[in-house]
Amino acid sequence: MNIVIAVDGPAAAGKGTLAKRLADKYGLAQLDTGLLYRAVGYKVISQGGDPENIEVGEAAARSLDPAELANSSLRTDEAAQAASKVSAIPGVRAALLDFQRNFAANPPALADGSAAKGAILDGRDIGTTVCPDAAAKLFITASTEIRAERRFKELQSRGLGAIYARVLEDMVERDARDSGRSASPLKAADDACILDTSELDADQAFEQSVEFITSKNNF
Ligand code: DC
Repeated sequence: MNIVIAVDGPAAAGKGTLAKRLADKYGLAQLDTGLLYRAVGYKVISQGGDPENIEVGEAAARSLDPAELANSSLRTDEAAQAASKVSAIPGVRAALLDFQRNFAANPPALADGSAAKGAILDGRDIGTTVCPDAAAKLFITASTEIRAERRFKELQSRGLGAIYARVLEDMVERDARDSGRSASPLKAADDACILDTSELDADQAFEQSVEFITSKNNF
């Protein structure tokens, strides 16, 4: 049986860390779908293009090579903003949909070479659009200030200079764009478990997620 877990939520809510731990626990291949949009956005801006331009965004998405996902520049806030802009273009989303669904249906082998028992995808619309039949859906959120603080500390720890007020401003702007777009906006699926991590540490978020996943018959 191929198990699929969907993890959605706004930026810096803790989705990535949680998805990795769940992937390890259940033997699932992990896909950070934000990285796909970051790669498209980054490609556009690094070629001097406008990430809100429909034709340019669609061409970048259609020509995306999975090898581009390894670029460390995709982790910058500049790439995140560009990602948020290209992700509002329906043609960009359509171009990335097959890749994501194929990953979920045919997950690659795990790092140790063993076969994956399924896949865990994290993003904004996994439970609503990409994998609406996922066995378990989690929606991870936290207050804007807490998420901005987490992102600020992360940027600092990576030696990237950051100003908290600017990180917060970027977060508010990106949240508004991701939630307000008409194409597959950031939204919790009706059957998702909503976890607010504002007051939870990574261990508590993991434990509560496992509790929810265990409560699903498929596990
Ligand atoms: O998760 P992230 O911060 O790496 O995502 C970067 C941007 O990509 C985010 O602001 C919106 C977009 N995105 C999306 O529209 N759908 C997804 N499934 C994942 C990310």
